[in-house]
Amino acid sequence: MKAISYRRYGGPEVLEYGELPDPKVGPDEVLVRVRAAAVNPVDWKAQAGYLDGMFETVFPVVPGWDVSGVVVRPGVSVTEFAEGDEVMGYVREDFLCHGTFAEYVAAPIRTLARKPRAYSFEEAAGLPLAGLTAYQSLHTALGVRPGETVLVLAAAGGVGSLAVQIARHLGCRVLGAARASGRDRVAELGAEPVDLDEETFTRRVRELAPDGVHAVLDTLGGPFLPHAARLLAPGGRLASIADGEVLALGGRYYWVRPDAADLAALADLADEGVLTVRVDRTFPLEQTAEAQRANAAGGLHGKVVVTVP
Ligand SMILES: NC(=O)c1ccc[n+]([C@@H]2O[C@H](COP(=O)([O-])OP(=O)(O)OC[C@H]3O[C@@H](n4cnc5c(N)ncnc54)[C@H](OP(=O)(O)O)[C@@H]3O)[C@@H](O)[C@H]2O)c1
Repeated sequence: MKAISYRRYGGPEVLEYGELPDPKVGPDEVLVRVRAAAVNPVDWKAQAGYLDGMFETVFPVVPGWDVSGVVVRPGVSVTEFAEGDEVMGYVREDFLCHGTFAEYVAAPIRTLARKPRAYSFEEAAGLPLAGLTAYQSLHTALGVRPGETVLVLAAAGGVGSLAVQIARHLGCRVLGAARASGRDRVAELGAEPVDLDEETFTRRVRELAPDGVHAVLDTLGGPFLPHAARLLAPGGRLASIADGEVLALGGRYYWVRPDAADLAALADLADEGVLTVRVDRTFPLEQTAEAQRANAAGGLHGKVVVTVP
């Protein structure tokens, strides 16, 4: 199959485009013909070696964890999916080797759900990793409830924009903190915008929520995290997906898990029109390095997606 891979840690320059053997399909995996794979910051962080202490790495590594595509062959014990099913997945295994920037990936069924009918393959590829992170952070890490006020840091980003939509759907009031360039996007998603500006951030949140916020979801890290921690109402909860310093602030550091039931819930929300995924840029598979550069450069308010026609 045609695939993107790297043989040593590094930036986009280590990516190679060429032939690799087709994946073997385990008993509880399905072979997916990839149609689209979204780029996430973790792809280029893993490729740079930052996750070396966390995941065994078997070179050459095909990067990429997000996927949408079509099942071409279910494993011998799979009854959940059949040939021709359109699926999406967060195909994170316990080691780095078989990713989604390729024509085919063998995906464990615990990482997959049906593709939302209302979504294109490109949109569906942008949902699993960011959507599961937002969904699980709000439900599992923060336990948000209807009527609560939730502050989301970096609310215009991939995870942040989905967190805003999910929290709104749960009946929360959402304050969405973003750079000034993301203000309109945050408002469009249904949150009350707060500029990520050192001068005005705390004052603005206190104006909007004088009694404090019930929950903070940090998808940014850095100096706004301790500021946000001070804005919690008594008993308020704090979680970060981007900064381990959250533990020192009494909050929870959350890592997204592959979960077929949560992913199926996201597919339902997508089909009900609750969740939209904005795709900003697409690149063909052989230009995955360019796609990574576009994601790392920031300034987009939607996903960067690699397509495999
Ligand atoms: N723990 C987990 O399970 C987990 C899961 C998913 C993601 N993450 C991490 O969470 C973070 C966000 O992921 P994502 O997929 O949402 O990324 P993304 O789509 O690239 O969005 C990042 C957002 O952060 C904003 N931003 C970046 N630097 C900023 C700064 N200095 N000041 C203000 N805003 C800034 C960006 O705004 P601009 O576009 O204006 O730059 C953008 O809106 C990444 O660090 C990622 O690795 C962790």
